[in-house]
Amino acid sequence: MGWLKTSIFSWLGVMGVTLFASAQWITCTLLITGVTAIAILDHINRGYWRKLGIVTSDGSVPIFGHFLSFMDTKKLAWEFINNNYEKYYESKYVGSYFFWSPNLIVTDPEVVKNITIKDFDHFVDRREFKIEGKDKYANEMLTLAEGSHWKGIRSVLSPTFSSGKMKNMFPLVMEKADALMKKLHKITGNDETTVDMKDCLGRLTVDVIGTCAFGFESNCIEDETAEFEKKLAKASDQGLEMFLGLIARNILPTKVADYFDIGAMARWHYFK
Ligand SMILES: *[C@@H]1O[C@H](CO)[C@@H](O)[C@H](O)[C@H]1NC(C)=O
Repeated sequence: MGWLKTSIFSWLGVMGVTLFASAQWITCTLLITGVTAIAILDHINRGYWRKLGIVTSDGSVPIFGHFLSFMDTKKLAWEFINNNYEKYYESKYVGSYFFWSPNLIVTDPEVVKNITIKDFDHFVDRREFKIEGKDKYANEMLTLAEGSHWKGIRSVLSPTFSSGKMKNMFPLVMEKADALMKKLHKITGNDETTVDMKDCLGRLTVDVIGTCAFGFESNCIEDETAEFEKKLAKASDQGLEMFLGLIARNILPTKVADYFDIGAMARWHYFK
């Protein structure tokens, strides 16, 4: 989609120039051709599933597709998937669009099984999501790596979750769970009736991963003021700032985004 970005920016640029050069008729012509071109592209791109004879989830709007209903802040993200599951369960799968990119929502367990096991060789990579510049190391994550590179990382990681290894981890997880229970008893013992479970479970998660994966006592459950937890919570807060950073990194040239340290990963640079 790089060419599209370039053409839209050049189109807007030329339109700006002609507007200031008082060549309004050129601006008008450009505006009309541009909008027509976008309308045609929109029609073609959001007709992908229809052309394949696959049911399209309703609520697809021009340019955004289903993106806005997915991002609807009044609903939880999984509700979009769940609604589609309930509505289109019979048809086994249903097409949707994130902007102009087609996404298939599979609602049938048998099809899921085929995708993840029998026909997996056709479905190795996840959604393409290349991160350029300063944040490039994020491409090494299991969820972003592709092809044989992914396979390499995956086969190193898989033995970590063998039943023997999990059995070894169990006492460590129990230890942390006990620590959390003790803390909860202490809080409720102080006649406190409200407990922030998101905070508690976040601390439990960090402590469990810390000891199981890294042999490191992050002490987030006991120590309310643990530095590690504070930085982590701040970095992983998926608020508006992260969302805007993600969009800005996609729109801005990589060098500019790097210079101003903009992007979804910017807050993680603390841990580098
Ligand atoms: C799964 O794959 C097999 C073999 O290709 C096929 O016969 C079957 O219909 C597939 N299952 C579904 C639910 O599509």
